[in-house]
Amino acid sequence: MIRFEQVTKRYPDGTTAVDGLSFEVSEGELVTLVGPSGCGKTTTMMMVNRLIEPTSGPILVDGEDIAAVDPVKLRHRIGYVIQQVGLFPHRTVLDNTATVPTLVGWKKAKAGARAAELLDLVGLDPKTFGSRYPDQLSGGQRQRVGVARALAADPPPAFGRGDPQCC
Ligand SMILES: Nc1ncnc2c1ncn2[C@@H]1O[C@H](COP(=O)(O)OP(=O)(O)OP(=O)(O)O)[C@@H](O)[C@H]1O
Ligand SMILES: [Mg+2]
Repeated sequence: MIRFEQVTKRYPDGTTAVDGLSFEVSEGELVTLVGPSGCGKTTTMMMVNRLIEPTSGPILVDGEDIAAVDPVKLRHRIGYVIQQVGLFPHRTVLDNTATVPTLVGWKKAKAGARAAELLDLVGLDPKTFGSRYPDQLSGGQRQRVGVARALAADPPPAFGRGDPQCC
């Protein structure tokens, strides 16, 4: 049995990742968390094995408040598969996105402007997310930075698209 009682996770920058969440999962029950990117699904799961500590509200596993359980022993009882995408962990979201333009010699301002434009395109406000590091994003947000990074070098249009000689 897993039980959340009004559990909240707030990060130091003021982001509320999980807000007063309560639910109970019985033994043998299959549960799926569904919601938009960034809504708090992974945070919720990572709080169950204390990879992330809640800001408030108890979480009980088999009736026991996990705040009082040794995290290593707790994790030995819980299987967990992570989301990964391969961003540079020591570079900000903006710098990750600007990787190829920078490598091919674009001026910093132009590369930064292009990266900001692409972050906007994938639904990440560059003012909010540009200065964050990958470990400060949700998995889907990281995946979207990966897409923005892949698009950032102005790839040539696909053959046939906008090509007057084609078709
Ligand atoms: N260190 C951090 N500082 C500030 N905000 C953070 C930090 N880590 C995560 N967040 C934010 O917490 C929110 C919840 O993230 P979470 O990983 O739980 O989302 P998710 O529902 O799993 O999304 P996805 O479907 O994209 O994987 C996101 O808006 C994310 O930007
Ligand atoms: Mg996630």
